[in-house]
Amino acid sequence: MAIATSSSSSLTSTSVHQTLCPKYSHSNYTFRVLRPRLRYSALRFTVRASSAVALEPRLSTRQQNQTLEVDPFACPVCYEPLIRKGPPGFNLSAIYRSGFKCEKCNKTYSSKDKYLDLTITAGMKNYTEVKPGRTELFRSPLVSFLYERGWRQNFNRSGFPGPDEEFNMAQEYFKSAEGGLLVDVSCGSGLFSRKFAKSGSYSKVVALDFSENMLRQCYDFVMQDGTLSTANLALVRADVSRLPFPSGSVDAVHAGAALHCWPAPSNAVAEICRVLRSGGVFVGTTFLRTNLNSPWIIRPFLQRIIRDYNYFAEEEIEDLCTSCGFTNYTSKIQQAFIMYSAQKP
Ligand SMILES: C[S@@+](CC[C@H](N)C(=O)[O-])C[C@H]1O[C@@H](n2cnc3c(N)ncnc32)[C@H](O)[C@@H]1O
Repeated sequence: MAIATSSSSSLTSTSVHQTLCPKYSHSNYTFRVLRPRLRYSALRFTVRASSAVALEPRLSTRQQNQTLEVDPFACPVCYEPLIRKGPPGFNLSAIYRSGFKCEKCNKTYSSKDKYLDLTITAGMKNYTEVKPGRTELFRSPLVSFLYERGWRQNFNRSGFPGPDEEFNMAQEYFKSAEGGLLVDVSCGSGLFSRKFAKSGSYSKVVALDFSENMLRQCYDFVMQDGTLSTANLALVRADVSRLPFPSGSVDAVHAGAALHCWPAPSNAVAEICRVLRSGGVFVGTTFLRTNLNSPWIIRPFLQRIIRDYNYFAEEEIEDLCTSCGFTNYTSKIQQAFIMYSAQKP
């Protein structure tokens, strides 16, 4: 089994105990090695005794026969799969209580205040980095609070059909990814992540955003929603230009109303292509660059907004996707709204 070839063979459970979060130092947790699978449809598999020996020389026979799970996360620095220490399961509480470590970079990652921080800057003490305004804006607590309380509804005036319809449209494209891992990149407060998780169509849904406050708001919405099981959902902070997943490990990527907010759209789309498996599907929405035939009085204001965001013409989005290696590009347009889809060959 592929997991047996993990490079973590040199790590003993004791060393992992010592190096990963001390708050999780109880020895009764299963130590699992996070190796990418070729396909994520099979959620669990049992590791044969011979494999387990290669991974973990000190495991008892009982432990060797335990079911091991594979988590999807990789180090954002080197893309090596992360080693996890903590309670089993891909769900909010288990991931929150787990510590993650990159054996290669010797860097640890842990959950902070409701989400797992897998940015390169996670844990840095002195270095700070400021992103462009279109990214920083969404880190504000006020914008995160207002986002699903009026801000997003405004998009309808530009032709966005609304969350329910956009979700149904996206689901049509994601049919081939059913049962797999879906990453909702730039999820904001989780408007679509919650719908994807609730749909039951995916074995794992990762709600991923760069904004700490959007993720906190997402967590609160998830907790308030009594009908939403958190059994297949993880909240992750990451930069879309540095996705914390191994290459070819993701079945579907959704990016709602996001392309225009990204600091470097070409890096982001190339990164999405990297993490998708062959046949994996990318679906995004954004505002198209439109001519400014608006009343002169608001034109300076609109020009300011356009300068602050990366709005593209349709041909540019298609060019971007195909130049990053995608095929089967399609789009649906309604006024300034575009939903585009593309597939990893
Ligand atoms: C307009 S919101 C979209 C939210 C949601 N997907 C939707 O469809 O309504 C754009 C999101 O992009 C996120 N974002 C901006 N820059 C990012 C980056 N570099 N990496 C990841 N997310 C980013 C923002 O934090 C924000 O939550």
